[in-house]
Amino acid sequence: MDKIKIVNQIIQERRSTYPAQFSDVPVDNEVIKQMLENANAAPNHGKTQPWRFVVFSGDGIKKLATFQSELYKKNTPEDKFNQNTYEKLQENPLKCSHIIAIGMKRQETAKIPEIEEIEAVGCAVQNMYLTAQAYQIGAYWGSGGVTYVENAKEFFGLGKEDKLLGFFYIGNIAKESPISIKKPIEDAVKWITE
Ligand SMILES: Cc1cc2nc3c(=O)[nH]c(=O)nc-3n(C[C@H](O)[C@H](O)[C@H](O)COP(=O)(O)O)c2cc1C
Repeated sequence: MDKIKIVNQIIQERRSTYPAQFSDVPVDNEVIKQMLENANAAPNHGKTQPWRFVVFSGDGIKKLATFQSELYKKNTPEDKFNQNTYEKLQENPLKCSHIIAIGMKRQETAKIPEIEEIEAVGCAVQNMYLTAQAYQIGAYWGSGGVTYVENAKEFFGLGKEDKLLGFFYIGNIAKESPISIKKPIEDAVKWITE
């Protein structure tokens, strides 16, 4: 297959696969390392390479699960506390082989607009998504849980000006996602030709 066919196929067939669809067979660390290498090849403005990743696997996943559920408990007033949310924060991560926390490290000089640093991290995550697809590994970018919680950032080595942008959940696929039906691209594009 030539490069064009391969890239089109990988992009078009990419799907999000959620932790409930993962098997309990762990993903090889070498695959994770390739995903990270490919993330690092993403476009970014001013060579800032603003992505920061923390990879959790094995007992590290239990550490993440405990951290996020306990932080939820600490941050939530008693009358708002939801036991189901607490348990999900504790149990969902355990379905994954690896979880990569996705961070954006703000440039010291703040010369590059923040939005461009976030966009660059989005490009890096897409590279991980496509790598996962090529290896037929399940993955999905989730922005729930402690993603936008200010006092979660330190746990992931992020400072005040940095951002936690979510988590990339990874596992071998037990149950495939159905084909994705997207709205046609024509709805989102205007051509100006003269
Ligand atoms: C920045 C970002 C954040 C997302 N956060 C969530 C999330 O919190 N929960 C969720 O179910 N899906 C989340 N998704 C995944 C989308 O729901 C998923 O990409 C969408 O359903 C389209 O499916 P597909 O990836 O298979 O094409 C997120 C995707 C992006 C790009």
